Amino acid sequence: MSTDGYTSLVDLPNEMARVAMIVEQALEVLLPDTDGAEGRLAEAMRYATLGGGKRLRAFLVMESASLFAVSETCAARVAASVEMLHAYSLAHDDLPAMDNDDMRRGKPSTHRAFDEATAILAGDALQCRAFEILAEHDTHSDSLARCELVAALGAAAGAKGMAGGQMIDMLAEGQVLDGPAVTRLQALKTGRLIQYSAEAGAILGRAPSHQRHLLAAYGRDLGAAFQIADDLLDVEGETAEIGKTVGKDAAAGKATMVSVLGVERARAHADMLAQQAASHLDGFGPRAANLRALAAFVVARRN
Ligand code: IPE
Ligand code: IPE
Ligand code: MG
Ligand code: MG
Ligand code: MG
Repeated sequence: MSTDGYTSLVDLPNEMARVAMIVEQALEVLLPDTDGAEGRLAEAMRYATLGGGKRLRAFLVMESASLFAVSETCAARVAASVEMLHAYSLAHDDLPAMDNDDMRRGKPSTHRAFDEATAILAGDALQCRAFEILAEHDTHSDSLARCELVAALGAAAGAKGMAGGQMIDMLAEGQVLDGPAVTRLQALKTGRLIQYSAEAGAILGRAPSHQRHLLAAYGRDLGAAFQIADDLLDVEGETAEIGKTVGKDAAAGKATMVSVLGVERARAHADMLAQQAASHLDGFGPRAANLRALAAFVVARRN
């Protein structure tokens, strides 16, 4: 993928590690304690969320917020909220009723470490806590901004977003979907939350709508590239590296971009989408160098 003068100067692994540390600390504080008769629920929430993952969505929130000089403390709350929502989606995605995966982030998936009922409840409570954090005063002094964060996350995660995409994904098992249908499936199940993460900084920063739209467009293309890369890793990745069982998509008859295009064309399509994602950021100049570098990372990643 082509680079520009800014991207080549970015130390992305270092930047991502720095953000991951900030978000980990925020999650530690914002997740419930394990006291009381209900403590097992908080233990499962912590297990599903802490100490793993690339924190890509968190990085998008923090980087988009930095474009508008938003306080890092406020942005970290939104980043933690998105990571909780994401962790909920993974705990439920791994359940026997869905993808039936025993491994996640290199350790037993939440229902394997606890039990199915606990994994379901942990996902439920993570989702609630995510919205609760967004609505709390510490997230933004302007209640209108907080409402926008809540409404946009609801839209991204709900029936016409992530949950809707997961529905299509389940219905498509064993079916042959064409390219446009898989594109829509992936835009909903993965793209909408990634788009939200990229837009969140603009909401926090009360940015003009044209800048929010550019970040949304970036997030949409990035999310599409990201999910195709995930499909490719299921075929070409190593369990030890990606921390989840490989080869499960073909075995389950999943509709993926690899099943439609094959490996080579799927990779070319993901590369094209990543370049397109980066091109939406042209107007932001050097400040968006990390986000541009992230576009190259999502298609080159090995986990
Ligand atoms: C996995 O997401 C689920 C998909 C939407 C493909 P990630 O690959 O971002 O998972 P973590 O957070 O790094 O574990
Ligand atoms: C999961 O997609 C998307 C969500 C959890 C919303 P996948 O089923 O492809 O994710 P992995 O491969 O299990 O991480
Ligand atoms: Mg799935
Ligand atoms: Mg899965
Ligand atoms: Mg997958």
